[in-house]
Amino acid sequence: MDRIRIIGGAPLKGTIRIGGAKNAALTLMPVCLLTDQVVTLTNIPDLADIRTMGGLLEHMGVHVHLNGADSAEGRILDLNASGLRDTTAPYDLVRKMRASVLVLGPLLARHGQARVSLPGGCAIGTRPVDLHLKALEALGAIIELKEGYIDARVEGRLKGAQVNFPKVTVGGTENALMAATLAEGRTIIENAAREPEISDLATCLRAMGAQIEGIGTGTLTVDGVDSLGGVTHAVVPDRIETGTYALAAAATRGRLTLTGTGMDLTEALVDHMRQAGVVVEEATDGLLIDATGGEVRGVDVMTEPFPGFPTDMQAQWMALMSTASGACMITESIFENRFMHVPELSRMGADINIHGGSAIVRGKARLSGAQVMATDLRASVCLVIAGLAAEGETVINRVYHLDRGYERVEDKLVTCGATIERLSG
Ligand code: UD1
Repeated sequence: MDRIRIIGGAPLKGTIRIGGAKNAALTLMPVCLLTDQVVTLTNIPDLADIRTMGGLLEHMGVHVHLNGADSAEGRILDLNASGLRDTTAPYDLVRKMRASVLVLGPLLARHGQARVSLPGGCAIGTRPVDLHLKALEALGAIIELKEGYIDARVEGRLKGAQVNFPKVTVGGTENALMAATLAEGRTIIENAAREPEISDLATCLRAMGAQIEGIGTGTLTVDGVDSLGGVTHAVVPDRIETGTYALAAAATRGRLTLTGTGMDLTEALVDHMRQAGVVVEEATDGLLIDATGGEVRGVDVMTEPFPGFPTDMQAQWMALMSTASGACMITESIFENRFMHVPELSRMGADINIHGGSAIVRGKARLSGAQVMATDLRASVCLVIAGLAAEGETVINRVYHLDRGYERVEDKLVTCGATIERLSG
């Protein structure tokens, strides 16, 4: 298993290009199941999760073609589901990635049936899919759970309905939205997630002919249409990759320009960074982060659905706060078990105490390098940030988690002065 070795202590300086959003691409790819025409996605990041979703779609008979090597515009992905022959998402593919469940809504809407393995447990909590299923049932799907699979079908067409999510769910909103585009009549989705990835999905669906109002709000109104056409759509920039490098700049007291991204995607994070004393400014085609002033102060954070502080930035924020002056409280309100990076940060000298869903972090002038273990995607990148900021050598084990969501992370950091390398095997 690959490991990553970092010699920390050097401020990051330079420019990093931000890729397309993993989480947006993962919901845009199943959109191809809603049409027999070609869906072309540009600004596709080169990530393990994208390959997993591509593999799942190919298994179903979708023609998947990824064009070109890495370029300034990212990769281009052509998807054509006109030859679909199988509506099953098998266990072996779903267990690798929970986002596989996003094929459920589109399959039901256009093909009237779907059999999707139930995603198993997950390192950051139980993460059920009950709200996805309730929303699809409201639209007329008949759903049975048997032999570890979600067996879903619909007599005729899905029917527009009122869908009220009792809790904000990104994936649940995506499944309901995709399904509603081809349902008969009007669907109103209340308490919809407002994440930029949802707006990106809705914008793409609209370009295919879907009738959707309320994009970017908590109420999405969808008037079902008979069919959707092809589309060429650029994936929104990755706000979590943006935030991750912004925090790496801050933790190393460096100065980075992040291009191909925007302030509007990361407002909650930017607010908190500014409160902590980090300079964040808009730059041409992106952001400038400057922490060369030296001092970073402890600032409390509570994770919330968008536009609140993202749970996917909580671990990275904790890495920065471990180096801040003063104490702060970090509260995780989305997932129940998302502090697995804490014991690893503690191995690097961080002073963190967990009380239920909150962690008290007392910053230290310097962390020290250590052998640590990545436990999930965002936890692993938090350890990269801590390693870059720490004195001495850090070796991160189980970095395959990192490859699920961060493209060429070592290359991007090396060009900004980091000493970081991958140790194979
Ligand atoms: C998506 C993101 C993930 C991010 C999360 C929250 C993708 C591929 N993943 O995950 O990176 O951390 O949003 O911003 O886009 N819940 C239920 N029942 C359901 C569905 C969700 O109880 O049927 C709960 C979850 O356990 C969690 C909360 O709702 O506590 C939010 O989860 P959700 O927004 O659905 O997360 P994902 O879509 O899985």
